[in-house]
Amino acid sequence: MRLPRRYFQPLAIGAPEPYRELPARLERMIHFIPPHIEKVRAKVPELLSQVDVILGNLEDAIPADAKIAARRGFIALARENDFGQVGLWTRINALNSPWALDDLVEIVGEVGDKLDVIMLPKVEGPWDIHYIDQLLAQLEAKHGLRKPILVHAILETAEGVKNVEAIAAASPRLHGMSLGPADLAASRGMKTTRVGGGHPEYKVIADASGDRERASAQQDLWHYTLARMVDACVANGLKAFYGPFGDFSDPVACEVQFRNAFLMGCAGAWSLHPSQIAIAKKVFAPDPAEVAFARRILEAMPDGTGAVMVDGKMQDDATWKQAKVIMDLARQIAAKDPAAAARYGL
Ligand code: GLV
Ligand code: MG
Repeated sequence: MRLPRRYFQPLAIGAPEPYRELPARLERMIHFIPPHIEKVRAKVPELLSQVDVILGNLEDAIPADAKIAARRGFIALARENDFGQVGLWTRINALNSPWALDDLVEIVGEVGDKLDVIMLPKVEGPWDIHYIDQLLAQLEAKHGLRKPILVHAILETAEGVKNVEAIAAASPRLHGMSLGPADLAASRGMKTTRVGGGHPEYKVIADASGDRERASAQQDLWHYTLARMVDACVANGLKAFYGPFGDFSDPVACEVQFRNAFLMGCAGAWSLHPSQIAIAKKVFAPDPAEVAFARRILEAMPDGTGAVMVDGKMQDDATWKQAKVIMDLARQIAAKDPAAAARYGL
């Protein structure tokens, strides 16, 4: 761990200073696209009016013989588009792969000034963050970049989960973390073949009682990991995200998975299919009734202290803070979306 005094010092002479606070951006969905496919690249201008973040994926799901084309395709789409308020991210290949070094060197060299965040897969411990932190500082200095490129870690190995607190505290370059349930399932030896979501056999069952049918309910396979990740992220000023939901034929289950993450403290989730963009917009936004109630709490406690009753429910400094989280998010969404502003009365 670097000394506190040196924590925010750039790691290379001439590299930009790290942010003290993350840029305030709405990131309800990180929308994945395969950049080696020309037809997909052609749709980027249209996508930019729909998404908060667009991510060019270079890692898993890109065939080994298309890795270079995906990297070149990402550089081309970064050059050809004006992203405005939309975040431009890429998921590079894992650090132990034959592609990671050239992904970083070429992308930062060619379009580093347009890139907001690099998503780093299969992060196992703080050493992975230290490596990419130093390399990015060298590349930023070499190419005269003015703003730091952030790093977003995917939590998707048992070792990564074990080290999640140390990863979250590893560098001021970190943006946040996403839970990667598919790789994590493989790494843990879970007996599933899914990308996120539940499993019908992971359940609790009521006690036997005569001939009565025993009630049972599926449990959330991801609860423990997501909760640890949210605490590690938020304690370090980072944002937490749920990752992929692979069953595109089940939008209801996708919505439930996203909502559990939202309620637990996540800022957004990945959208792997265009249909999941609307689900994320619906879920990662507070309910208008909740916003109206939060506004009443804030109005009833103008300085945020004391205790008052609103509709028979006790409010104090802690509920005031919860209400503020909800109102701040509603305002951020309203600023971007006039229909939401009308729903929230903002
Ligand atoms: C995402 O990368 C996952 O493995 O779930
Ligand atoms: Mg993965």
